Amino acid sequence: MSIRFPFFSKKEKNVSNQHIQLKNVPSHVAVIMDGNGRWAKKRGFPRVAGHKEGMEATQRAVRAATKYNIKILTLFAFSTENWKRPNYEVNFLMKLPKEFLHIYLPELIEKNVRVETIGELSALPDFTKEAIEDAKEKTKDNDGLLLNFAINYGARFEIIQAVRKMIRDKNLSNYNLDEIDEEVFSNYLYTKGLSDPDLLIRTSGEKRLSNFLLWQCAYSEFWFTDTLWPDFTEDDFYEALINFQKRKRRYGGIE
Ligand code: IPE
Ligand code: IPE
Ligand code: MG
Repeated sequence: MSIRFPFFSKKEKNVSNQHIQLKNVPSHVAVIMDGNGRWAKKRGFPRVAGHKEGMEATQRAVRAATKYNIKILTLFAFSTENWKRPNYEVNFLMKLPKEFLHIYLPELIEKNVRVETIGELSALPDFTKEAIEDAKEKTKDNDGLLLNFAINYGARFEIIQAVRKMIRDKNLSNYNLDEIDEEVFSNYLYTKGLSDPDLLIRTSGEKRLSNFLLWQCAYSEFWFTDTLWPDFTEDDFYEALINFQKRKRRYGGIE
């Protein structure tokens, strides 16, 4: 089954006459939401104005993901390296989850979305943790989109933590070393139980992973766009999906 692309793209990317193949949408889409600061700077605003505007782009991405029955949407919201930014900006970023959930939690509930996180939440201020825990609790029985925020997330730290957890895990003492395979290891990552991202989107023109999902993106398809995150629309999301559908995924084999 296929359906017509719903809008004429205002950016004239000529995707309006293309079709989304509903049987071939990625199960898991991960997004590096980048370019907020540059979006603000271009307009003569302080960088944090870009983060605020970025919240709306975030909800647009959620709407697009639910519309196309994507199972998991993992959004990189704050990296373990983002603590290096000026206090004012970090403090502003720490307030955004609460603000986002205050505005959009009713819509997330209405859309049957389940909120989850990956990353070390323990380092966040109490009001941020409380807002996130409240959203997780209120959406825990929803079985639509899994909206997975990566907050205080760093892939290298995730891997180091996984190794530490394995060393501490008494259940592993009976294993032979060669039984510790990729599947066993994956169970110690934050993403335990989740499929790997099929499609990774990065906005703002940067072409790097910035310590995001290093293990999980081994065979993800990458989509880079120059669009800055606050400008990212549902059309942009569809464009990435359409492009994904043209990819030939070989996983090292042959067609
Ligand atoms: C992404 O936008 C948001 C976070 C990293 C929290 P940036 O703040 O990195 O914006 P640019 O890349 O400086 O434009
Ligand atoms: C990656 O963007 C982190 C998030 C989007 C949350 P950055 O802006 O922090 O990455 P670099 O510094 O350009 O690599
Ligand atoms: Mg950036």
